[in-house]
Amino acid sequence: MIRHLLWGSLAAVAVADPQDSPPPGGGPALSFSIVAEQPAQFGSNCAVCHGGDAQGTDRAPALTNNRRLRGRSESDLLNTIKNGQGNMPAFNFLPPEQIQALARYVRSLNADAFDMKPAGDSVAGADIFFGAGHCSDCHTAQGHGGARGPDLSRIGHLLTLGELTQSIRDPAAHISPGYGIVDVTMRDGSVVQGFARNRTSHSVDLQTADGHLHLLLDSEYSKIAPVSATAAGPSTPMPPYRGTEKQLRDLIAFLSSLDGVAVGPLQGQTDAATLEDVKEVLYPKPGDWPTYSGNVNGNRYSPIDSINTRNVAALRPAWVHPLAYNDLETTPVVVDGVMYVTGPNQIYALDGRTGSEIWNYSRPRSVAGTISGDAAKGASRGVAILGDRLFFITDNAHLICLHRLTGAVLWEVSMPEGAGKYGGTSAPLIAGDLVIGGVSGGDEGIRGFVVAYRAATGEQVWRFWTVPTADEPPASTWQGNPKPQGGSSWTTPSYDAKTGILYVATGNPYPDTDGDARGGDNLYTDSDLALEAKTGKLLWFYQFTPHDLHDWDANQPIALVDTRFHGQMRQLLLHANRNGFFYVLDRTTGQMLQASPLVKKLTWSTGIGPDGRPVLVAGNEPTLGGAKTCPAVRGATNWYSTAFNPSTQLYYVMTSEDCSTYRKAHDGGYGPVNDPADPAMKVLRAMSVETGKIAWEIPLSGPPERNYSGVLSTAGGLVFFGESSGGFAAVDARNGTYLWHFEANQPWKASPMTYMVGGRQYIAIASGPNVLSFALPKN
Ligand code: HEC
Ligand code: HEC
Repeated sequence: MIRHLLWGSLAAVAVADPQDSPPPGGGPALSFSIVAEQPAQFGSNCAVCHGGDAQGTDRAPALTNNRRLRGRSESDLLNTIKNGQGNMPAFNFLPPEQIQALARYVRSLNADAFDMKPAGDSVAGADIFFGAGHCSDCHTAQGHGGARGPDLSRIGHLLTLGELTQSIRDPAAHISPGYGIVDVTMRDGSVVQGFARNRTSHSVDLQTADGHLHLLLDSEYSKIAPVSATAAGPSTPMPPYRGTEKQLRDLIAFLSSLDGVAVGPLQGQTDAATLEDVKEVLYPKPGDWPTYSGNVNGNRYSPIDSINTRNVAALRPAWVHPLAYNDLETTPVVVDGVMYVTGPNQIYALDGRTGSEIWNYSRPRSVAGTISGDAAKGASRGVAILGDRLFFITDNAHLICLHRLTGAVLWEVSMPEGAGKYGGTSAPLIAGDLVIGGVSGGDEGIRGFVVAYRAATGEQVWRFWTVPTADEPPASTWQGNPKPQGGSSWTTPSYDAKTGILYVATGNPYPDTDGDARGGDNLYTDSDLALEAKTGKLLWFYQFTPHDLHDWDANQPIALVDTRFHGQMRQLLLHANRNGFFYVLDRTTGQMLQASPLVKKLTWSTGIGPDGRPVLVAGNEPTLGGAKTCPAVRGATNWYSTAFNPSTQLYYVMTSEDCSTYRKAHDGGYGPVNDPADPAMKVLRAMSVETGKIAWEIPLSGPPERNYSGVLSTAGGLVFFGESSGGFAAVDARNGTYLWHFEANQPWKASPMTYMVGGRQYIAIASGPNVLSFALPKN
């Protein structure tokens, strides 16, 4: 039910501020005194064509707020004035200092407020902003403030001094995009008022005064009318600022100086995450998908069953949203119907019903060569959400916190402590009021770690190094190596809220295929680690591939499931590993309960012994000339999602039947094996958790490297997955019978998810540059 909230009271409170005295004469008198004074020669030389106020005439363009002039420097403008341009005459007869003054003036009419560095006391301005001026009731800056108006953290880069001054003195004169107020008349005759944050011909995303977004379709409303600036009320809830000229100057000096947030924990008081916020992540509302796997337990299984075995044949595209990147790996996260998707250093908030954009945040990608591997290629798998905060890892392994409603950056920290080609590709995870981040770069010799920050502030709570320094005990498993490297943490961990234990998967040791200078098991690489989430203390570890020589990171999903196993209810950890085995562990102790082959092409080990260690087959060590071993370097499976369905007791995994030639080398050292008689292939498999055996499988024709799709299983009795030939399909979870498919004709690099908005279930997956969302026809 939508509540009807009006803005009048809000604005009234903010206008009546006793601290600020109105300017002499009263009224919202516009002051451009901060802009450079208009030189006298402008009136005599330029006004005839450009107008006395520089607003342009039919002879010449406006020189104020002229987009073509925004980026131009003073010396560049000086040249135009001195030498002319097109129909503009040269003014080389004016004294140089006069030309200079004219150039400075024109630039001040167009340059960013930030570049103009206007005079004024910015400390006093900050006091007004966060204090008597009440600006932070509605706006964010420096990581603090409200979401009832646009973020102002970089406003000086977006507006000229003139525009900035006008926005403050006379807010109704120019309404910022997405913040116009409208009345939406619903089909039942009621009227809802709010910001039209995003509007299409058939929908509107309305932000009401309580900070909620209402995603409305034209089937639900009959009329949208802008609220005009008449006697009936202001068209913006922002009250004109009535401070003195000095106060205005200080406020503008402060706003102009803002340059985003500094790297480091947030300074000053801030609201902590509430218990309610935490619960929404741990026990998602039906229809929400608040975290990478839908649930912190890492099991990509959804209890929604509107789309099911009986009706899935009618599933069809609901909408498509293209992003500015071609190889998306993102899993959408959906809260309150708003979908958050990511590309490299890009975050988009989309309307889950229409796919249209509500806001986006982006920054340039890191300079080539400063980061490595998949991070450099642009891999980004998504966001985490806690309450009104959203968390994202940039390509250079910075963790950033944004406001979920506005996209305002609230804080940013660098996860690596020192140098190294650290990258960021994974979606972070929320564990209580902490946000957990991991890094990539294990093939380039970084020292791996996982790190926890206070979600409210970005203050570091703990850091767990996955490989030791020379004086730490696991160093004995790195003989001949004083400086162990590897053990990156590039997939989203899993969390057991009941026990407060975090489960983290680690990557391979470095160098990948040459183990001569790292004798021993190389702890804690290629392992699952159980860490106390509050402290980062190691409780147990299980290493899948001791002394790895094949780049078999253990960075696959960790599914925490409670189920009957060999006649007993158990707290299990399921892990289908890149090394070719499917493991069932007791997650309270780390004890291996069962390990069975996931693939048929498995040459390096005959099985996992009772001691939990693989029984090795000779001849599988990389050689200088190259030795063939199966699975291939990309693994029997990889980071893409898996799912355990409690009603079938099956674990669904995209597997790869493939081998590589492994050469002993410091960097690289892999080659494909092309055997036409025995081609590589992706196979969707349903593994019985009880027996460890393959219950059913679907071999997928087409090149296996075109399929990095994960799987989703639902209470509708379905398994969704991408096919190597470019299709997206649904099969019966019990037996793998095909029920539906859609040809997307793209390689897959992403995993599917599902959500519900307005009572309708959607299935979404990223494909190439597109986010695709499917639904049943409306009845
Ligand atoms: C006789 C009319 C005339 C006068 C006088 C004149 N301008 Fe112009 N000015 C123009 C025209 C026409 C253009 C557009 C030129 C073009 O097409 O690129 C222009 C362009 C400009 C531009 C570049 C704007 C853009 O959009 O690229 C600047 C800066 C400028 N004038 C500054 C001045 C200044 C400063 C003076 C006074 C010293 C002045 N002009 C006097 C006609 C005039
Ligand atoms: C009651 C909430 C509220 C208060 C208080 C408020 N604003 Fe605003 N402000 C808004 C809204 C809503 C908008 C967008 C609509 C518009 O452009 O008027 C806005 C727009 C702006 C803009 C233009 C932003 C852009 O992207 O173009 C600036 C600058 C600004 N406000 C500064 C201030 C300052 C400085 C103060 C304190 C003196 C302040 N605001 C107080 C709600 C508020």
